[in-house]
Amino acid sequence: MIFIDAAFRKETPYTPIWMMRQAGRYLDEYKEVRAKAGSFLDLCQNVELATEVTLQPVDILDVDAAILFSDILVVPYEMGLGLEFLSGEGPKFKDTICNESDLLKLKCGASNRLEYVYDSISLIRSKLAKDKALIGFCGSPWTLATYMIEGEGSKTYTQSKKMLYTHPKLLHTLLQKITQELKAYLVSQIKAGANAVMIFDSWASALELQKYLEFSWNYMKEIARELKQQYPHIPILLFPKGVGAYLDYIDGEFDVFGVDWGTPIELAKQKLGSKYVLQGNLEPARLYNYEEMKSGVDQILAVMGNQAGHIFNLGHGMIPDLPRENAIALVQMVREKTKR
Ligand code: CP3
Repeated sequence: MIFIDAAFRKETPYTPIWMMRQAGRYLDEYKEVRAKAGSFLDLCQNVELATEVTLQPVDILDVDAAILFSDILVVPYEMGLGLEFLSGEGPKFKDTICNESDLLKLKCGASNRLEYVYDSISLIRSKLAKDKALIGFCGSPWTLATYMIEGEGSKTYTQSKKMLYTHPKLLHTLLQKITQELKAYLVSQIKAGANAVMIFDSWASALELQKYLEFSWNYMKEIARELKQQYPHIPILLFPKGVGAYLDYIDGEFDVFGVDWGTPIELAKQKLGSKYVLQGNLEPARLYNYEEMKSGVDQILAVMGNQAGHIFNLGHGMIPDLPRENAIALVQMVREKTKR
């Protein structure tokens, strides 16, 4: 698989490409299945339909990898926090974590209740072309903790930070619990057939440097280290969003560093390019305009070249109203321009 080879810096016939959030509302085919499924969580738990929407972007865009269709929030959901996805408003938890007694109420063994994810992975892998990789994923402990503490997406992370600076031990206990669940979850995804795993730290940029390393990066590293020991042939991808100023402090046993659109790719290459394969980092909004998309691709390839060490991707997820024609054109463009 070209994606897996590239993740291990092997020579490939061209630079592989896939897109974060490549399944979703910019595809009418997705919206159709989504309407059929009922709620968003119903879709995540429906093995047949989750498989169908996972495969849609592979068929439509011809990307080199599929990413499991699910959500990072199914883990806190299975830890016992009631969850709803309200249309137009995003995710909302019924209960939140505020104190020690809330922590004690969290259920253990969430990974055992995520069978629907493993069943989806097995079914997707059986239907996916042999040369396309299947990426499993989870959220980072810190990003999941912010949702569990705030109860919803946040712009300020006030409650999470309050806990960090006033009850750091409580936050560490929560992060340790989540970390244990995530290790078991990713191991089960690998056993079900995932060819690579990615950890999304979408709210990395909420923390100052030392607190980021202590409360987020260390836990991501811990998960990566354990998986690497058990499954050295499975590439591990880490995506901390918004940490461009912290690149000197990035270390750990993983394979691919996801570069977000706010971090100049030259800088990422200079700081991390010899240690890790870099993935990214086209600003997704460039897909609104074909010419802007094209010049963005040229700028990235001028730095990363058509050689090993790069996986092309967006610098964050697809936006629901991006034109699909440009997404299709992007895949062909990168493939053409990077042919060896
Ligand atoms: O194609 C893929 O990349 C696979 C599927 C995927 C989804 N969510 C589907 C989804 C993945 C990898 C995620 C990860 C995810 N979910 C992250 C980390 C990546 C990132 O974007 O930073 C985060 C922070 C979440 C939490 C989440 N899920 C939010 C904030 C929302 C609401 C915002 C929105 O886009 O609606 C979701 C819902 C969600 N997850 C949708 C999809 C396709 C939209 C739900 C719908 O169809 O109604």
